[in-house]
Formats: sequence, C-alpha cells, structure tokens
Amino acid sequence: MDTASNTRITVIPSGAALAADIVGVDLSQPLSDTLYQQIRAAWNQHLVLRFRGQKLDDPQFLKFARLFGELDKAPIHAAKDDVVNPYPEITVMSNIKVNGKAIGNLGHYEALWHSDMSYNESTPIGSLLYALEVPPVGGNTGFNNMYLAYETLPAELKRAIQGKTCRHDSSRNSAGELRKGFMEVTDPREAPGANHPLIRTHPETRRNALFLGRRQSAYINGLSLEQSEDLLDRLWAHATQPEFEWYQVWQVGDLVMWDNRCAMHRRDSFDANMRRLMHRTQIRGDKPFFDAVTLTA
Ligand code: OGA
Ligand code: MN
Repeated sequence: MDTASNTRITVIPSGAALAADIVGVDLSQPLSDTLYQQIRAAWNQHLVLRFRGQKLDDPQFLKFARLFGELDKAPIHAAKDDVVNPYPEITVMSNIKVNGKAIGNLGHYEALWHSDMSYNESTPIGSLLYALEVPPVGGNTGFNNMYLAYETLPAELKRAIQGKTCRHDSSRNSAGELRKGFMEVTDPREAPGANHPLIRTHPETRRNALFLGRRQSAYINGLSLEQSEDLLDRLWAHATQPEFEWYQVWQVGDLVMWDNRCAMHRRDSFDANMRRLMHRTQIRGDKPFFDAVTLTA
C-alpha cells in the first residue's frame, strides 16, 4: 500500500451497530505507540476493525497481532480434517483440499453464531482473520454487538440471567462438526467445556455484554434442562436480531479483527468448488467475569 505512511489513521465507522474501517496504515510496517493506542481505542469503541489492502506474510501477521497481547494456540480441529497449521498460533480457515485432505477448518459450510474458543476457561480477547483467497460470492462474515444485545434485553430476561452461568460446549466447532478426541453430547448438562457468567463485564470498557458463546449443547447451570433451553432460545432470538449486526464482504488483503468479549460472529456458506483461504490468530485473554459494581456505578 503506497498510500499508507503510518503517520495518521482515519477511523470510518460502518454506520451499523458495530465495526469501522481503519484507513491509512500498512500493517507490514512498524506502528508508533500513538498509532497503536488509537487503533486499540477504536477497537474498544467499534468492536470490529477492518484494514483493507494489506499484504502480510505469516510473521508480519503474527507480529501485528502480538501488539495486542500474547497469542493463543489454534483450537482443536474437526475429527475428519487433517489440518496442518503453519504456526501453532495460526488457524487455517479454508475449504481447500490437497490430495483429498482439508488444509483448513470449517470447509465451505455455514458457521453458526459464536464467540471463539469460549469453551475454554480463559477465552481469547479477540481474533484476527486475514483473507488470502476469497470466493466471488458467499462466505461473508457477520458480527453482532453483544453490549447492545445486553442493554436492550427486556427487564425480565435481564433479571433471569443475573448471577447465572452458562456451560460452553467444547465438543463441536462452529460448523457443528465434532472435534478430534471428543464424544457426541446427548445431554447438554453433561457437555464438556467451561462455565462462564451470562453477563460479562468487559475488563477495559467496563461495559456489560451478553456472553452466549454458541447455542448448540449450551446449558444454564442451576436450571432444569427445559428451563435452560427456553431461556437460551429467548436470549438467542434477542441477540441475533439484524439491527445488532454488520456483515463483512471479503476482499483479498482484508484483515478483520474482532473482540470476542462483546461480539459474536457467523459465516455464510459458499460454493464448495470455489477457493477460500484465511489465516486466523487469536489473542489470549483471561477468565470471563461479571463485576456487580457496574450495575450501581
Ligand atoms: C473464525 C471464524 C469465519 C470465517 O475465524 O473464527 O469463525 O469467515 N471464521 O471464516
Ligand atoms: Mn470463529
């Protein structure tokens, strides 16, 4: 990018409930602390940032991601795939097959709404996804604003989730595929995975967000299975309304980073015969918490 001099950035909000473009930065080049702080502030404000027209190799991609913290290892992939990640911190997202073997995760399928790796005790603060090859249509990625989802919950639902935790099933990926080494979950109460508060306080912004993770085999602790299913259905119906969303239509060279603490994402399916190749990395976070002080502050 010859227009980017890394001296000044412009933040252009999407106009939707979240997301902004950051213009004027070449991420393969060093960033001053001031620019980094501006990007970090924009990330807290807009939840999802997009940098278009980037040209990054894996070490440059990882170097930029590391500005935001230590990186997490890639998650466990589906049992049927034979993915070899180029670096332990990079997750290859692709439908491309070489000699009949998938080189990446999620194939060409729809990925359901989720927050990355929320089934771990410590969950990544954010993920970065960089587009190397994109199909001509389809494979768009949607993001939603879970602060807004929480703030607009009917009072009755806010009360119903106060102090409650949810189990985040670790057995399946966001396309619903069973991960290597996991057994099929028949009863959500017995699903493997971490328990996290349904109302999550963001450690930097101190705002509360609804924290759902993923729907499949989720369970709200302390409720009967029927009550849990009913409450989860109502929370999900509320959280996945179009007014909380923004969609990314990919171009090669797009780098999109999102905050897993206050945004979920999903992906449209695309033509299996088209190639799509993305590299993802994830920034290590800490254990989700709810700070009751935020309710009285
Ligand atoms: C991810 C993910 C969606 C996509 O990278 O975590 O869910 O668009 N990807 O590939
Ligand atoms: Mn994901």
